[in-house]
Amino acid sequence: MTNPTDFASLCAPLTLAGRQLRNRVAHASMTTLMASGGRVSDTLITYHANRARGGAAMTITEPIGMAHHQARLPRTQAWNDADLDGFRRWADAVETQNCRLIGQIQDAGRGRHYPGRNPEAIGASTLPDDLSWTVPHALTVQEIRALISEIAEASHRLMRCGFSGVELSCGHGHLFHQFLSPSSNRRQDEYGGDRDRRLRIVAELVAAIRALCGPGFIIGLKLPGEDGVPGGIGPAEAAPIAQALTAPRNVDYVCFAQGAHARALEMHVPDRYGPRLAYMDIIRGLHQAVNGVPLMALGRITDPAEADGILARGEAELIGLGRALVADPAWLDKARGGRTHAIRYCLSCNTCWGTIVAAHLPIACVNNPRVGRPDEVDYWPAPAPTRRRVVVVGAGIAGMEAAWVAAARGHDVTVFGRSVEVGGQARWRALLPGGETITSIYDYQLVAAQRAGARLELGVSASVADVLALRPDAVILATGATMIPPDWLAGDADGLVRDLRAALPSLVVRRSRQDGTAVIFDMDHTEATYAAAEFLRARFARVVLITPRDTIAVDVQMVTRQGILRRLAEQRIEIVTLSEPVWSAAIEGGVLEYTNVYTSEVGRVSDVAFLAYATPRAPNDALVAELRHRGVAVRLVGDCLAPLEMLAATATGHAAGEAV
Ligand SMILES: Cc1cc2nc3c(=O)[nH]c(=O)nc-3n(C[C@H](O)[C@H](O)[C@H](O)COP(=O)(O)O)c2cc1C
Repeated sequence: MTNPTDFASLCAPLTLAGRQLRNRVAHASMTTLMASGGRVSDTLITYHANRARGGAAMTITEPIGMAHHQARLPRTQAWNDADLDGFRRWADAVETQNCRLIGQIQDAGRGRHYPGRNPEAIGASTLPDDLSWTVPHALTVQEIRALISEIAEASHRLMRCGFSGVELSCGHGHLFHQFLSPSSNRRQDEYGGDRDRRLRIVAELVAAIRALCGPGFIIGLKLPGEDGVPGGIGPAEAAPIAQALTAPRNVDYVCFAQGAHARALEMHVPDRYGPRLAYMDIIRGLHQAVNGVPLMALGRITDPAEADGILARGEAELIGLGRALVADPAWLDKARGGRTHAIRYCLSCNTCWGTIVAAHLPIACVNNPRVGRPDEVDYWPAPAPTRRRVVVVGAGIAGMEAAWVAAARGHDVTVFGRSVEVGGQARWRALLPGGETITSIYDYQLVAAQRAGARLELGVSASVADVLALRPDAVILATGATMIPPDWLAGDADGLVRDLRAALPSLVVRRSRQDGTAVIFDMDHTEATYAAAEFLRARFARVVLITPRDTIAVDVQMVTRQGILRRLAEQRIEIVTLSEPVWSAAIEGGVLEYTNVYTSEVGRVSDVAFLAYATPRAPNDALVAELRHRGVAVRLVGDCLAPLEMLAATATGHAAGEAV
């Protein structure tokens, strides 16, 4: 009998196109922005080599430039011979670790995430992109044929460099999806009209790659399962498409992606507000449609036991992990080594998506401050040259990250935390909608800190004297930040108006519903404020957000923002834009007045039972001056250094732990 913790199904080998996969875990394609000047960089190679070293049997690259019109994109370029050495080194680094390297073929077509139109967009028909309203150049038949042969030749080039295969991305509303979907393909030639003609470009491309690369080269298809677009591809249309494309038996695996380049873009990276294993119903339903071609399950699979169960029940033959392997490349090795507790789990927060798409920076992760570093896999720091006494003040996620890393380096570490539990503000965020996964950050940190021997002094608001009493060689200050009261808050004698973060804890313990209106003055525009609004909506009859900007959630990247806007609308949370409250006596009677920032026109919200502000935060750095005056070396981390998002908290904490 097998032991369920053996993860026997996950660890079972599989053969694709005659090539061995040592287990069932594949890293799904993730754009990393780690290419450098259009070339394969050492960091990009290390990123994939790390996923191989951590146990994955196959890793799919981000989209590679496979045709000359993609030359200006920030990706590696395989349509000519300029970077053969880079592709060879990449393949070598991954394949020598018994992991198959698969290059992704993708073109965004008319899709664009940024403001403005894409002047170089190509597409099936001259119809606007749902997000940017870009109207593409509709490819002529000649151009389609040239594109197919250029991509097939680039695939062959990758094969010659040592790649095991390619994956053709036909989902997410990109070019090939645009051809497949009746909503974006209105052609009346051989590449549009009925279904057979809509899928011809994909079928011909697969056949062309197969003809050039032979039977021993893996070809994968990422197909739309449910694109969320009216008149687009739902499971009922996805099934015959998958059936037709797999019928010739010239593809080696299939996976289904959801969402499209539209209001449904959020679906492609299902987040923590929705269920885990987000798309298993769709995947199960489409399993019969793939003619026995191995099916890769994909979509918010984060837990090894859940992944193993999918395989054990025969619901899929492979497990695709995108974000889970960004968070922890050693996910599989830790699981099969009996160390699931040591996995840094994916939060499904989509911070990674924000780093590449909104910040245009290389991929980064809240729960993995070492993405792409050479020692990333199962990281445990090397000992420091000398053991030092380190005091960390603040047991939030910045302080705890610094503490475990410093302690693991052999330092004598004491952590003071004001609360009796670790996690700081993240612990409160964890109690709000979409917060459950956040516990994974401080759960890991606590286990690691204890393993490394850090001392935790919790429930202590440390004073300068408390810190100095430990005669520290270095102090790491992680005391967070506090929201700055807004200018309109002239007087608040009765504590009617509160800092949102301070106001929530008492509501969390009180379960009953309340009459009246909850109002948040929103000068924050980050995700937690809207989680609080949803939380308040479950407690109060009405919730109103008032913001001085012309819209909300400006500082949240697009996919998370789509979810926020959708849920606020579904929950009838009201939004008043371009407005600021005014302080007036009426507030005592539950009436809040506000004015338009341009016209000074007055509006009113009545029956106000809860009023709080979410505003920029100022660092709680009161201890710094005194400690420095006493000659103590002090480093600031997290909000105490600069009030930003969680990504900065763990990153700065981690860096301080390494540097101290
Ligand atoms: C930061 C980020 C970048 C991604 N880049 C790509 C990409 O370049 N090509 C692609 O096909 N899918 C891309 N995806 C989608 C993933 O491959 C995967 O389909 C999706 O994240 C769901 O899987 P997961 O829940 O395991 O992360 C990306 C997702 C994220 C979060």
